[in-house]
Amino acid sequence: MKTAQSFFSLGINRNQKEYALQNIPVIGKIPDWLKGNYIRNGPGMFNLDKKRLNHWFDAMGALHSFNIHEGKVDYICKYIECDSYRKATEQGDLSYSEFATDPCKSIFKKVQSYVFPMLPNMTDNPKINIAKIGERYMALGETPMQVEFDPHTLEKIGVDEIVPGAFAYKTTAHPHFEDEHAYNLVVKFGMQSYYRIYDMANKGKALCSIPVAKPAYLHGFGMSKKYFIIAAGPLLVTPIQLLFWKRPYIENHHWLPKEGGMIWVVDKETGKLKARFETDPFFSFHHVNAWEEGEELVMDLNAYDDASIVNKYYLKELENPSVSLPKGTLRRYRMNLRTKKINAAVISDACIELPRIDYKRYNMNGDYGFSYGVSLHPEKTTGFYNSLVKINAKTGQSSYWHEENCHPGEPYFIPSPMSKNDEDGVIISIVLDTQNERSFLMILDALTMQEIARATVPEPIVYGFHAEYFQEGSV
Ligand SMILES: [Fe+2]
Repeated sequence: MKTAQSFFSLGINRNQKEYALQNIPVIGKIPDWLKGNYIRNGPGMFNLDKKRLNHWFDAMGALHSFNIHEGKVDYICKYIECDSYRKATEQGDLSYSEFATDPCKSIFKKVQSYVFPMLPNMTDNPKINIAKIGERYMALGETPMQVEFDPHTLEKIGVDEIVPGAFAYKTTAHPHFEDEHAYNLVVKFGMQSYYRIYDMANKGKALCSIPVAKPAYLHGFGMSKKYFIIAAGPLLVTPIQLLFWKRPYIENHHWLPKEGGMIWVVDKETGKLKARFETDPFFSFHHVNAWEEGEELVMDLNAYDDASIVNKYYLKELENPSVSLPKGTLRRYRMNLRTKKINAAVISDACIELPRIDYKRYNMNGDYGFSYGVSLHPEKTTGFYNSLVKINAKTGQSSYWHEENCHPGEPYFIPSPMSKNDEDGVIISIVLDTQNERSFLMILDALTMQEIARATVPEPIVYGFHAEYFQEGSV
């Protein structure tokens, strides 16, 4: 058997090919009831003709669609046809600032920036997440420009701004959904900066506006039935530094542990600040769940002790096959809204990132049982994520899916038709197999974490971020 290629060479440091394939090879039996379109967003192109990008979060975005029907799978891969991608391929160079890479100085003289939407050269490369907002299918990033696409062909339909005509802000790629609303957090930069919440499904004025001197880098926010939760670790930026823009966007942020962690709780009905909690420093990309219990607000978070994970995702770190990723864990914060006391506890010692729950059934509901995420297997903790983990939030117990030389991406839970709970269904994940130098769509039984079926694509898929599944009939 030949030696497996490195994860880095197949999963990061390359450019994805586009595909439109029908009936890709399937091993195992896909459940008859599983009929729908699984669409995942993420990086597709790291190497431009004249420039290699610096960070996992920098690449030109590509969408992958796996259409599952009658036990068969069709596969499409297509780059997100945004202006950033078009210029990058035409000019072989970066024209817009990405997360941790700036264009070269001659291009940069027009003052491109990651967060200043009034400037003509803002990036519109939304390569992080997928969401259906109203009847529109959107590719979401952290800049204000979001791309609407056709879910059947992945072709671009148009570009949308979360806050039309606004100036100097960034947003998250993780809106929260409730009834017809799609709430999202916006960080507005200025001499006075603000955290604001908008409804992307019903554009208008901000639902809340919290002044902040040094905004944190925020990749998401929390939401319970009554409250929005802005959980800010001390990876902070002084807004004036963004104005001068001497370094790429994220490198204007500094880890300031003495500032501690700060959690703002905002009343959803009034938009007013309900409480503010100070806690030990932490860093988080992803919220997991939040709900109220009597006078307590409970928030589950995928968190780290510091922000070093951001640096570990630079390509110069990931190209080391024995890179040691900081271990994110599932943590629970209990905030008493009357006494203003806060308590933080680690639910499970298992490594988890890209966490998902059965969102439709259990978001804002403390009865939820399970989080699913990518992980480092306890017996193989070096290199890139090599397992899927399932964590019982009630007991802290964890179980894994792991296969040698395989790197599974974000797991997505789909309930079975008569599903009783959040392990009654399947888990879907795109897995990179470095031994066979290709990727496959894997379907696991969520109860046992055992494989049911896999559908293989002809080449490795660059390791990506977040997906959504749209049941047949909904697309
Ligand atoms: Fe994310």
